[in-house]
Amino acid sequence: MPTALVTGATAGIGAAFARRLASDGFDLVLLARDTARLEQAAEEYRAAHGVAVEVLSADLATEDGIAAAERRAAAGVDLLVNNAGFGQHDTFLKTPLAAELDMLKVHCEAVLRLTHAALPGMIDRGRGGVINVASVAAFFSRGTYGATKIWVVNFSESVEQDIAGNGVHVMALCPGWVHTEFHERSHMDKSAVPDFMWLDADTLVAAAVRDFRRGVGVSVPDIKYKALVGLSKAIPRGLSSRISARSGRRYE
Ligand SMILES: NC(=O)c1ccc[n+]([C@@H]2O[C@H](COP(=O)([O-])OP(=O)(O)OC[C@H]3O[C@@H](n4cnc5c(N)ncnc54)[C@H](OP(=O)(O)O)[C@@H]3O)[C@@H](O)[C@H]2O)c1
Repeated sequence: MPTALVTGATAGIGAAFARRLASDGFDLVLLARDTARLEQAAEEYRAAHGVAVEVLSADLATEDGIAAAERRAAAGVDLLVNNAGFGQHDTFLKTPLAAELDMLKVHCEAVLRLTHAALPGMIDRGRGGVINVASVAAFFSRGTYGATKIWVVNFSESVEQDIAGNGVHVMALCPGWVHTEFHERSHMDKSAVPDFMWLDADTLVAAAVRDFRRGVGVSVPDIKYKALVGLSKAIPRGLSSRISARSGRRYE
């Protein structure tokens, strides 16, 4: 059985990945901070799909948490889904510096180190891959959040080029707005986003898995978000930053 390590596997997009991969027959390594929730999810996947499930309680904003995840990734996984993440409610100067630094650790350092740990084994075996969850926010000026997510996109594209021809694939996944716990956790006002812009996590993951299998480098599920990302590249950067800043103010 192939094994998938999913970070942030207890809620939202990560849980949708875990559900989908378990139903596809992957054994799972589920990572998050809440141990009780991890155990409960593991039990559900074992019972529903007969797959082996390990749980890894780790805080990816800490050195110990990243190191533990790194060790598990280096021990051998066929698919790594770097998904754990969180949002920020406030603008840069209103956000505590510690929260900004945690974001860099979870969104960038953990992604870099887990990818670095997992890829050599995949390349030796000539198969497998990494899905790094970025965001449509990567293509707009959205504070440190957007900055970390464009790093994820650029990093994933660059590693994909480095390993080309090895039978291993690295993809950045850029979701738009998805119904998850993300917005409540970040104290964002979801009502400011029109209904038609919201995506369902299972539908998003189905599109992501399809794109991954087709070898897509940067996956942007859903036609309206493809159009938005296309627009962000077509209009002057100053203009897209101003539009982005205006929409950001709706969350303050
Ligand atoms: N929802 C959206 O609209 C949206 C849009 C674009 C991109 N994304 C991206 O999608 C990814 C998943 O977000 P989501 O919407 O599914 O969020 P979510 O529902 O809040 O789930 C976040 C998951 O990450 C885990 N997590 C958070 N901080 C962690 C840490 N320090 N160490 C380890 N695990 C941690 C959480 O579990 P514990 O609390 O137990 O650790 C949970 O399992 C993120 O990278 C996010 O930036 C989301």
